[in-house]
Amino acid sequence: MKIEKLKAGFIGIGGVAATHLKILGKHKSVDIVAVCDIVKVNAVNTAEEINAKAYTDADEMLEKETLDVVFLCVPPFAHKDLEQKIVEKGIHLMVEKPVGLNMEEVYAKQLAIQKSGVICATGYCLRYLDTVQKAKEYLIDKEIAMVRGYYLSSFVETSWYRMMSKSGGQLVEQATHIMDLIRYLNGDFKTIYANMALKVSDDIKNIDIPDVTSVSFTFENGAVGHLDCSFTQNDHRMGVELLGNKFRVMIDGTNLTILEDNNVMTYSSEVDFYEEQDNAFIEAILTGKTETILSDYTNGLKTLETTLAANESQKTGNVISITKTES
Ligand SMILES: NC(=O)c1ccc[n+]([C@@H]2O[C@H](COP(=O)([O-])OP(=O)(O)OC[C@H]3O[C@@H](n4cnc5c(N)ncnc54)[C@H](O)[C@@H]3O)[C@@H](O)[C@H]2O)c1
Repeated sequence: MKIEKLKAGFIGIGGVAATHLKILGKHKSVDIVAVCDIVKVNAVNTAEEINAKAYTDADEMLEKETLDVVFLCVPPFAHKDLEQKIVEKGIHLMVEKPVGLNMEEVYAKQLAIQKSGVICATGYCLRYLDTVQKAKEYLIDKEIAMVRGYYLSSFVETSWYRMMSKSGGQLVEQATHIMDLIRYLNGDFKTIYANMALKVSDDIKNIDIPDVTSVSFTFENGAVGHLDCSFTQNDHRMGVELLGNKFRVMIDGTNLTILEDNNVMTYSSEVDFYEEQDNAFIEAILTGKTETILSDYTNGLKTLETTLAANESQKTGNVISITKTES
């Protein structure tokens, strides 16, 4: 008997789309039927490779194809009203992080998604690590007192990453993964204060984003913490440390160390977090049960709010209070 497959389309065929395409290309319940990129060669080459139809205009793709699911993988500035156009057609949606650069626009998208009733996930893939799940389990009855996050990496060469108006800067665009992990493991932020500078990378053409960022915060649960990010390094380090009375939980990359009294427990991840994430999303569509999705649109919106608050703090010099968004 022939198994019906979900018909998938992609908008934005760059770096992250390649990862999703590879995973979905192997998925037994998915057929990638169409790909769209404003750069024709990206769409055409990929379409040829995977035997899909190529488009350079998302409206045309949405009009001509009958899709069950779309992966939206455009840069932060390019979302426009694509989410609304997709969900109003009843198409399920995976949106890459960050979900936008402007809270008003993102609230409008949240409303459209809720009204449409489609299943929507956002690309906070680190939540799907087995080691993160283990950390969350360990922390369930612990009182966290302090959180220390970091995202230290190299510069991203895409033309848009270097521009504040297009990427939102490193915290909004990349270290958002760690801000989200902090929200996942410790709970919501209460206040945010940021210091940012373009210190040593001003020889990069057209750059106006900071290359060093340090953010201090308080949390709803009374804990305090900070996160540092920078793209001045050749290698890539990211992680978070959560400390309480005589214990600490450290996630460094994909590895986990838990220290309690004098005991040290270490765990290495055994999963591909992108694969876990995409499989969970497809599973939710197939079953209609959304529990497998660890980051829905509202979650993506809440994490965006914290990183935009840091940018606001840098601009105004003020400590910014985080409003409580309803789930
Ligand atoms: N979850 C993750 O770990 C992860 C990893 C990398 C990137 N991302 C996110 O994915 C998004 C894209 O990043 P990337 O690295 O793939 O960028 P990229 O620049 O490599 O690719 C983006 C593609 O979108 C295309 N595009 C732009 N506007 C479009 C439009 N209106 N219609 C169709 N195509 C359009 C561009 O031509 C480009 O090919 C960013 O928001 C980024 O933060 C997430």
